[in-house]
Amino acid sequence: MTFARVLGTGGYLPEHCLTNSDLERLVDTKDAWVQERTGIRKRHIVGPGETTCDLAEHASRRALEAAGIEKDEIDFVVLGTTTPDLVYPATACRLQARLGISGCPAFDVQAVCTGFIYALSIADQFIRTGAAKCALVVGADASSKILDWTDRGTCVLFGDGAGAVILGASEAPGILSTHLHADGRYEHLLYVDGGVFHGYDHPAYVRMQGGEVFKIAVRTLGRIVDETLAANNMDRCDVDWLVPHQANIRIINATAKMLGIPMERVVLTIAEHGNTSAASVPLAMDVAIRDGRISRGDTLLLEAFGGGFTWGSALLKY
Ligand code: UT7
Repeated sequence: MTFARVLGTGGYLPEHCLTNSDLERLVDTKDAWVQERTGIRKRHIVGPGETTCDLAEHASRRALEAAGIEKDEIDFVVLGTTTPDLVYPATACRLQARLGISGCPAFDVQAVCTGFIYALSIADQFIRTGAAKCALVVGADASSKILDWTDRGTCVLFGDGAGAVILGASEAPGILSTHLHADGRYEHLLYVDGGVFHGYDHPAYVRMQGGEVFKIAVRTLGRIVDETLAANNMDRCDVDWLVPHQANIRIINATAKMLGIPMERVVLTIAEHGNTSAASVPLAMDVAIRDGRISRGDTLLLEAFGGGFTWGSALLKY
């Protein structure tokens, strides 16, 4: 049996940083409120001219280096993003060109904050079936470009960044299962108010009913954790690390509690960069691998929830 195994990871945050105190000068908010209600201390924001592809390129190069492989070994590129550089070509194609790879499939996946989990699941299917041998899987977003910087209910929450994972075909276990879901009935609770057919004449902004999204996210993530463990005949205590989507510390606390996993076994990066949408899970994974917390052989549970609504999980042996 062939598995998709993580060979290396990389992450990147743009240089420019906005603290909660900086935001106090933009909207009616307080550092203490943001820290207490969300766990966020600061977020990184793309500089002038910097795009999602730039972030993705930095993260991908770091992942390639960590995996110790040559770029020409990559035969599949999939990138989760909601903030592509252009309507087309896909940011994955631009990234492919930047990295100097050509010929292999390269495409974007648009599942908002669940984009990386969707991309990982797709790459996993290609590797399991033998259709690909070495995949570059990226989550990258520059949400600062679609924020209404006068709306305190959204602008304090998001930040920009990218995370990347190289998956290679292996006989030893890697990704054990992935679980993807969506429910399009909740568009009114979280959406961007512009696009090709709607409001192209004005800037597009994230619109969110935060409290409602919060409640559904907590319920849904609890369910998907159970679904993932049941599919693998595993128990809660078999999970070494929970690597959650970093949207709100209180959502993460609630999921960890439902899973019965102590917070010392949960990778938390939200304080440093807020909700980086599709980049959030691979960024967190990269941090905990590089600082030595996650070791080879550990069992990781990855999960995310976002606009769509979309949600998903992956259980893997690192
Ligand atoms: O990744 C995609 C999924 N996204 C999420 O999962 C985000 C989910 N939602 C959340 O994280 C939280 O709902 C928020 C952080 C957005 C809001 O936190 P909350 O504890 O649910 O606050 P709330 O919306 O119930 O508002 C409580 C109060 C309100 O004031 P009143 O009406 O009680 O006077 C808000 O106007 O907090 C106020 N408020 C703020 N105060 C200071 C809302 N945003 C802010 C702010 N600074 N930035």
